Amino acid sequence: MDQNMRNSRRTSIGRSLSRSSWNMEEVFAGGRDSRRSSRIDEDEEALKWAAIEKLPTYDRLRTSIMQSYLENETPGQKMAHKEVDVTKLDVNDRQKFIDKLFRVAEEDNEKFLSKFRNRIEKVGIKLPTVEVRFEHLTIEANCHVGNRALPTLPNAARNIADSILGMVGINLAKRTKLTILKDASGIIKPSRMTLLLGPPSSGKTTLLLALAGKLDPSLKVRGEVTYNGYRMNEFEPQKTSAYISQNDVHVGVMTVKETLDFSARCQGVGSRYELLTELARREKDAGILPEAEVDLFMKATAVKGVESSLITDYTLKILGLDICKDTIVGDEMQRGISGGQKKRVTTGEMIVGPTKTLYMDEISTGPR
Ligand SMILES: Nc1ncnc2c1ncn2[C@@H]1O[C@H](COP(=O)(O)OP(=O)(O)OP(=O)(O)O)[C@@H](O)[C@H]1O
Ligand SMILES: [Mg+2]
Repeated sequence: MDQNMRNSRRTSIGRSLSRSSWNMEEVFAGGRDSRRSSRIDEDEEALKWAAIEKLPTYDRLRTSIMQSYLENETPGQKMAHKEVDVTKLDVNDRQKFIDKLFRVAEEDNEKFLSKFRNRIEKVGIKLPTVEVRFEHLTIEANCHVGNRALPTLPNAARNIADSILGMVGINLAKRTKLTILKDASGIIKPSRMTLLLGPPSSGKTTLLLALAGKLDPSLKVRGEVTYNGYRMNEFEPQKTSAYISQNDVHVGVMTVKETLDFSARCQGVGSRYELLTELARREKDAGILPEAEVDLFMKATAVKGVESSLITDYTLKILGLDICKDTIVGDEMQRGISGGQKKRVTTGEMIVGPTKTLYMDEISTGPR
């Protein structure tokens, strides 16, 4: 008890002393130096945050703090806090940030994601979750047989004639009915990973496509798929769910990074910007200072319309694609990245987007 009091007094006195007397103290209490410099860093950071908080909302959501170690990049050294405009981060800045934050991709990503979650939960925001249900889902294909199934001009004309006759109840064409899924029901719980297993051609791809709302329109579907109780025609499934194809369909001459950048730009940022606005407002009210890294990440991934976003660099890193980011994807004519990498690019293309529900069809190369 006594010791504690003495310590705290010493600290408070120490704080009010001038720079020259710190050196005196360093001589007597050697190991305290790094703690002191980290406190100075914190003060400096707090000042910067205070300056950012005074900005108008539009600018505030674009400005964050970038930390970097000044010497040798060892923790405990003096840190520099730089105010940055997240829309103007260049390639080197982004790369440095990602490399520093995710040294060991898996472990650091987990830590980062929990920090991310803590920040959101601290101010009482609950992220929306999606529960997908499918009830009595029956999917049937009505296929023409043999030559008749080919998409030739005469066949197309005959199909039109058939469909007109079909309307009055006359069926002339020979068709076979193929039941792909029969009375399938189930619930996919939110915030979980669900594994779908089945032998080849058992209808896994068909089920995933049905859940993602991307089924071939020629298939006959009975039953119901709902997202949080809403039927597929009551909202835009394409904005909520992404189907990651079993096949890799890419533009062979684009590099991995270009492919992901293009995909990210096409998909936009979704609700990330709204989330950030709400978060910033609540944090300001509660007087909470965010962690610089999480803040920079959230702000940089919420800006619209940039050619290359931090989310691409992040996705490249966590999917282990950073080593081949400037290699072309390749196709049958040109050798590009490896098969496993190609599968991960297919996954990456979808996860750079803001969609919440991901249907991944055979995403690893697996033992084949
Ligand atoms: N549009 C379609 N028209 C006709 N038949 C189809 C159609 N889509 C799927 N099928 C048939 O439905 C069955 C299931 O196909 P699906 O692709 O869903 O299987 P899968 O479980 O994903 O198989 P795999 O493990 O080989 O990927 C197959 O027999 C396939 O031929
Ligand atoms: Mg399949």
